[in-house]
Amino acid sequence: MKKDLISVLDMEDYLPELIDEAVTLKAKLKNREILEPLKNRSIGMIFEKPSTRTRVSFEVGITQLGGHALYLSPKDMQLGRGETIADTARVLSRYVDAIVYRAFDHNMVVELAKNATVPVINALDNLEHPCQCAADLMTIKEHKGDFRGRKMVYVGDGNNVCNSLLLGAAIVGMNMVACCPEGYYPNKKIFETAVKIGKKNGATIEIMEEPENAVKDADVIYTDVWVSMGDEAEKEKREKVFKPYQVNMKLLKKAKKDCIFMHCLPAHRGYEVTDDVVDSKQSVVFDEAENRLHAQKAIMLRLIEH
Ligand code: CP
Ligand code: NVA
Repeated sequence: MKKDLISVLDMEDYLPELIDEAVTLKAKLKNREILEPLKNRSIGMIFEKPSTRTRVSFEVGITQLGGHALYLSPKDMQLGRGETIADTARVLSRYVDAIVYRAFDHNMVVELAKNATVPVINALDNLEHPCQCAADLMTIKEHKGDFRGRKMVYVGDGNNVCNSLLLGAAIVGMNMVACCPEGYYPNKKIFETAVKIGKKNGATIEIMEEPENAVKDADVIYTDVWVSMGDEAEKEKREKVFKPYQVNMKLLKKAKKDCIFMHCLPAHRGYEVTDDVVDSKQSVVFDEAENRLHAQKAIMLRLIEH
């Protein structure tokens, strides 16, 4: 049976190993080892929204594994003229070996996966960003060595990135607090699932509203934009609500001395994070961006038969 990556939950059985595989792939690349497990394979990538990191890291990663990436914009496809996502899935499955999909609507990713006979990888939707989560956990492992007993505090909007991190932290057994204003909590069902999985793995998963309290003893502070792609109509309102949730030096200083700062990027400097934090020695945001490449190569090797 083909395997998809729609939610971080799909990685529940193998996430710790996947992180180790990504670390190994990173070392191999640094040693200039040539690997071609995806030789003569083609991977279609449908992007409904803009992307810098995800698109480039997938394209480069596919090349490094010996395969071929096709960037598919819905506006250049019949999808943009009303062909259904189900028929698109059926047709693409006759040509390509996997489909990477960045969508506005999570249900569209589910529908594509249901109708595709090849693996589907969620490259971000309104509910989750699983590839980001894998790269983030890899980055934490590199900088902190282990997950048990560590505390990550996500400050800001309980969005797709936050949802995926809650599941990821619970699976690897890392404590996590989502510090979000009322009305902007993470997805309820995902949160409850993360609490359950966390219990099994010795991790506490909590929601708090007050940033200065939440970041006490944090090993990792994470934030993301206040206005995600698709939320633009609420820009003004969101900028007001989230103002007290800015990650600035004052907040960072309330965490552990060696706390690292993370952000999936793109950063909206001066909004969710200040320049001095994102450019500080504690910031690992560019390691995080690099690790998208290695983590996604590990994901593709897990899902695509070779
Ligand atoms: N972090 C992330 O997914 O970035 P892009 O939108 O640039 O792909
Ligand atoms: N939460 C952001 C992440 C961007 C990578 C968004 O969905 O726009």
